[in-house]
Order: sequence, then C-alpha cells, then structure tokens
Amino acid sequence: MLASNFCTTSLILQLLCLLFHATASAAIYSAHFCTNQTFYASDTKFQSNLNTFLSSLVSNSSLPSLNGFFRTSIDDIDGRFFCRGDVNATVCHGCVAAAAANITHLCPNDTESYIWYDECILIYSNSTFDNDDIVPGIPLNDEGSTVNTNHDHFNQLLSNVLNSLKGKALESSMGEKKFVVGAVSVTSA
Ligand SMILES: *[C@@H]1O[C@H](CO)[C@@H](O)[C@H](O)[C@H]1NC(C)=O
Ligand SMILES: *[C@@H]1O[C@H](CO)[C@@H](O)[C@H](O)[C@H]1NC(C)=O
Ligand SMILES: *[C@@H]1O[C@H](CO)[C@@H](O)[C@H](O)[C@H]1NC(C)=O
Ligand SMILES: *[C@@H]1O[C@H](CO)[C@@H](O)[C@H](O)[C@H]1NC(C)=O
Ligand SMILES: *[C@@H]1O[C@H](CO)[C@@H](O)[C@H](O)[C@H]1NC(C)=O
Ligand SMILES: *[C@@H]1O[C@H](CO)[C@@H](O)[C@H](O)[C@H]1NC(C)=O
Repeated sequence: MLASNFCTTSLILQLLCLLFHATASAAIYSAHFCTNQTFYASDTKFQSNLNTFLSSLVSNSSLPSLNGFFRTSIDDIDGRFFCRGDVNATVCHGCVAAAAANITHLCPNDTESYIWYDECILIYSNSTFDNDDIVPGIPLNDEGSTVNTNHDHFNQLLSNVLNSLKGKALESSMGEKKFVVGAVSVTSA
C-alpha cells in the first residue's frame, strides 16, 4: 500500500518503480539449504575464491549460448547454476544474480550451500557435493498446503507425469535444452 502510494507521486518515481518492479519480479525466492558441515573464515583465500566463483556464475548467466546451464570450478570450489528451460538469458541472469547475492548471507561461512528460486538453482561446494540430489520439500497435507490429497495417490500421479515427459523431452524441439512441461489435475482426497 505504502509503496504503491509512493509510486504514484511523480513520473520519475513511477519510472523508477517500474524499473524496480521489472527486476524485482524476475526472481522468486523458493528455498535454501546450508549444510553446516565445514565453515570458512572471512578474509581467507576460500572467501575470495568464492566471491570470484559467484561473480563468474553471474556474468556467464547472461550468455544465451549457455542455454541456462553453467558449471565451473575455482580451486576447490565446484558449483553451477541451472535456469528453468522457459526463461530467457535476461531473466536467468537476474535470478542467478539474486541467488549469488543472497546465498552468502543465508548460509554465512558455509563451504557447501544450495539455493532455489522459481527460475533458477545455484549450488556450490568445496570439493564434493554431499547432497547433490536434494530438492526443496513440497508440503502435502501439511498446514499451508492448498491441496489436501493422499500421498500415494499424489506420488502415482507425479510418477505418471514424469514418465510421460521423459519420452517427450528426448523428442523436444527446443534444441539443446530438452525442456518440456506437463500438467495433471489433483483432486482432494
Ligand atoms: C544450518 O544452520 C542454520 C543456522 O543456524 C540453520 O537454520 C539450518 O537449519 C542449518 N542447516 C542444517 C542442514 O542443519
Ligand atoms: C576444502 O577442501 C579441501 C580438500 O578436501 C580441504 O583441504 C580444505 O581445507 C577445504 N576448505 C575449507 C575452507 O574447508
Ligand atoms: C564468518 O564470516 C564473517 C564475515 O563474513 C566473519 O565476521 C566471521 O568471523 C566468520 N565466522 C567464522 C566462524 O569464521
Ligand atoms: C565465465 O566463467 C569463466 C570462469 O569459469 C570466466 O573465465 C569467464 O570470463 C566467464 N565469462 C563471462 C562472459 O563472464
Ligand atoms: C525475457 O523475458 C522477460 C519475461 O518474460 C521479458 O519481459 C523480456 O522482454 C525478455 N527479454 C528478451 C531479451 O527477450
Ligand atoms: C533472499 O532470501 C530471502 C529469504 O531469506 C528472500 O525473502 C528474499 O526475497 C531473497 N532476496 C533476493 C534478492 O533474492
């Protein structure tokens, strides 16, 4: 409310607000995971390597030729970003920049961290990933869930959709990305 009143006061402000909204609406934060196993101290080589590493992910994320995926390593730090298949390089870049800026604040001093947005994923680790396959949880039958459904029924539907998408992805006309989407209706149990 306050912000929108603020934004109607002058044309220049409106333009600034438009700009702000255009960038702010690009990346929607979803979740993060700090492993908390090993920590680095500030003003160490690890910290400066991590900063260099994150900057190179951010700058590379604006390159359309990468198709929204880039993995790199600097010394012991290995990591990558992965953007959703239907977002362009501009949106990918905005998301990776937000992820890189947030991850060191959300997981301070951590040598292995994960962050998820609607549009991208950014992960890094010192040497090896211990939790390479983790994904943020989807609440089911929990408070806050919008659909009250049976877990087994849901998992069966999910499995059906994923299996049907596997074949479609192989034949996808989206070039290198092999990006497909599928949807199924979930009814209340
Ligand atoms: C890591 O530490 C943070 C802050 O203390 C905590 O919120 C988070 O749950 C911890 N993560 C794990 C995986 O234990
Ligand atoms: C990163 O991993 C290497 C190799 O396992 C280890 O020697 C180094 O101490 C680790 N760095 C940090 C900051 O934990
Ligand atoms: C973690 O990093 C902050 C600054 O980024 C520093 O002040 C703090 O001493 C570090 N903590 C440890 C345990 O190294
Ligand atoms: C991409 O990252 C690499 C490091 O892995 C770096 O050398 C290169 O300059 C980056 N490219 C761009 C366009 O930022
Ligand atoms: C990228 O996608 C966003 C959101 O759909 C759109 O606003 C923007 O114009 C697109 N940019 C380019 C260069 O296509
Ligand atoms: C950073 O993370 C917090 C969650 O702790 C989230 O609310 C916020 O939107 C994120 N900011 C950016 C710029 O991604």
